[in-house]
Order: sequence, then C-alpha cells, then structure tokens
Amino acid sequence: MKRIVILTGAGISAESGISTFRDSNGLWENHRIEEVASPEAWARNPEMVLEFYNQRRKQLFEVEPNVGHRSLVRLEKKFDVQIITQNVDDLHERAGSSKVLHLHGELKKARSTIDPNLVYTLDRQELKPGDKCEKGSQLRPHIVWFGEAVPMIEKATEMVKTADIFMVIGTSMVVYPAAGLIHYVEREIPKYYVDPKAFSVHGISNLEVLRQKAGEALPRLVDRLLKES
Ligand code: OAD
Repeated sequence: MKRIVILTGAGISAESGISTFRDSNGLWENHRIEEVASPEAWARNPEMVLEFYNQRRKQLFEVEPNVGHRSLVRLEKKFDVQIITQNVDDLHERAGSSKVLHLHGELKKARSTIDPNLVYTLDRQELKPGDKCEKGSQLRPHIVWFGEAVPMIEKATEMVKTADIFMVIGTSMVVYPAAGLIHYVEREIPKYYVDPKAFSVHGISNLEVLRQKAGEALPRLVDRLLKES
C-alpha cells in the first residue's frame, strides 16, 4: 500500500470556523504572541495563559470537521495515510483519520509542569490555577509555545522520508521546524500544496500547487488520487 504523508496547518480548519493565525483577523492579530504563547507569558501571568487556551478549547466544542478533513479520511480506502498536523484542534480525529501526529500539542490535553511525560486528557473544558498533576505541580496546556522545542519533530521527519506522496494543506509555512519538513521528502515523489495563498516554492520538484480552499480542492484531489491508484 502506498504511503501518503500530509502536513496540515490552520487553513484546513478555517472552514470549520476556527481562526487561522496569520490571515487578517487571525489569532495573532488579536493577541500578542508573547502575552499568551510563550514560557515567559506563563511565568508572568499563568491565569491569562490558561484563560486564552480555555477559550480556544471551548470553541472546539462548537465546531465540526469540514469536507477537507473528511476528504483525507477517504484516502484511507486505498492508502496508508499519515497526517502530521500543526493544529491543536482534534478535527482530523473527529473526522475519522486514524493516524494523526500533533506537532504543536493538543488543546484537549494538559501536562505537568515538572514532568513533561505526565500528559492528561482533559475531561472538561477548563484548566484552572490549582489543577495539579499526580506529583503535585500545576498543570499547563499541552501546547508547544514559542521558544520551546518541538519534541515530535524527529518522528515527523522520519515519517516524511518514507512518503510515496506528500501533501501540504493550509499552512503559511513560516513556522520552523514544521516548515522545513518538505525538504526531507524524496525528490521524485508527487507533492501537492493546497492553500489559497500558497507561495511559490523553489527547489522542490514534482510539486503541484492548488491555490484554492481545502474544502474546494481536496474532494477533487482525493477523487483523482483514488482513481489513479
Ligand atoms: P497560519 O495562520 O500561519 O497560516 C494559515 C494558512 O491557511 C494561510 O497560508 C492561509 O492562506 C491558509 N488558509 C486560509 N483559509 C484556508 C482554507 N479554507 N483552505 C486552505 N488553506 C487556507 O497557520 P499555520 O501555518 O498553521 O503554532 O501556523 C503555524 C503555527 O503558527 C501554528 O501551529 C501555531 C502558530 O503560531 C503554535 O501554536 C505553536
């Protein structure tokens, strides 16, 4: 079975109603990154950081996967599909994708501030000051903040190297190391980049750029790949 590896970003969830980060009126236009998504912010004002992610988590309960997420599930009929997502939502999983690696963490999880291996699935919408891990330390959002290492990047790099087909969907490709993953893909394999504002990528061979919304491009692209396989 051929293996498709797919890197997704905020754009695939945009049609579900979740704001992207850098589009106009995106999340980072309304919030200063250094105030909510950095270790410094956590040290300075943990209540504000918890509240920011509580709001994001609440929103998750109000949205549904869209046709873009669902199209990727259809690929599993004929392909071994590995999704690597920069998104912290759970819309790929709720659509039904079976293999999803979260590079930047997950909104519905919390982790210990003294032992990063202690990760908990949240059974409620809010994480509060005073919520503790089993070793007694405050729980924090299970999110990779600016300035922090990306623990899953090595696993993701290995996945990308084994791809027979590679796709990039809905990401501005400005945040590293995620944006660098495309350079580990085998030179000759087919690659697709779906984003209405996809930039011109130089030095990547066999790349088809689809400057459309995921919800428009993916149903057709998936039909085509299923037919050709
Ligand atoms: P960005 O907000 O940087 O980029 C979103 C991309 O989605 C843009 O290129 C848009 O053109 C595109 N887009 C918008 N609507 C779309 C649609 N309907 N279909 C397809 N594409 C669409 O978001 P990311 O690239 O995901 O990190 O940002 C990367 C990381 O930066 C995030 O994971 C987050 C952020 O800081 C953390 O939170 C650690």
